[in-house]
Amino acid sequence: MEIIKEVRVLEEKLKEIRSAGKTIGFTPTMGALHDGHLSLVSRSVEENDVSVCSIFVNPTQFNEKSDLDKYPKTLDADSAMLEKASVDFLFFPSPKEIYPNGESYEVDLPLDGMDEVLEGEFRPGHFKGVIQVVKRLLEITNPNHLYMGQKDFQQFSLIHAMITHFQMPTTLVVCPIKREPNGVAMSSRNVRLSKKGKLLASIIHWTLAESKKRLKNNTVKEVETWALENLTTEWCKVEYFKIVDGYTLKDIIDKKDHDYLVASLAVWIEDVRLIDNMTLKQ
Ligand code: PAJ
Repeated sequence: MEIIKEVRVLEEKLKEIRSAGKTIGFTPTMGALHDGHLSLVSRSVEENDVSVCSIFVNPTQFNEKSDLDKYPKTLDADSAMLEKASVDFLFFPSPKEIYPNGESYEVDLPLDGMDEVLEGEFRPGHFKGVIQVVKRLLEITNPNHLYMGQKDFQQFSLIHAMITHFQMPTTLVVCPIKREPNGVAMSSRNVRLSKKGKLLASIIHWTLAESKKRLKNNTVKEVETWALENLTTEWCKVEYFKIVDGYTLKDIIDKKDHDYLVASLAVWIEDVRLIDNMTLKQ
């Protein structure tokens, strides 16, 4: 595996690879890698001739400067994992490489409010930053396949909208959520949970799975109300639990009118913000 820090160098390498008729798979990350990330990377290695993984803690998607400063940096461990997973290139650029003309521009992409609901409501501007960095990374790597996780359902939905809008020559591959044995979705934030906190967090996946069952005989409103009540305890504060249309992320009036429904949530346990989701109908 080669570690590359400069955009120009990576572009040149990938140009050669492309002109030799080889396919490129790309997995963007912010590092602090775990098995969830590695499931994306392994799929890329399986499905492409050459795989690129980027580690870039993107400053423009953090609402809180303190969150950005706190973000775990584990480059040595990350690069050992990527090497073991047979990644060809680890792209590890500086903010200057990614934003040579400054960070303050915005990608002009019509989203019809998709970036303002769910996570967007609680993390204003977050998705503008995600779109900005993924667009830049795709322009640099120009991959055949882009690997993203179902874990960040709204994120991949927006990136899908971006790829479609700009007619980018990249296919988005969405990989299933990797979970701990007790159902907790893997996340770099989980290390901040105590043993007890991790145990308590298993209520999240259980509630999602139960919501899926309950939706068969109940309305969306009824399931949302039940799930909110079920999740809310002394030790778990719910930020939102919503069942939305999986394509538009809009609210549901009658479930009969929708063929793709996703339940999405954010909760706080022990001062750690956890997100999760489940496709209830597709
Ligand atoms: P990061 O949080 O590092 O996640 C990188 C990718 O790993 C995302 O596509 C995410 O959905 C996926 N992922 C995380 N946990 C997962 C799990 N338990 N199972 C499956 N996939 C999982 O998401 C970002 O970084 C950034 O916003 C980024 C897209 C890199 C832009 O900066």
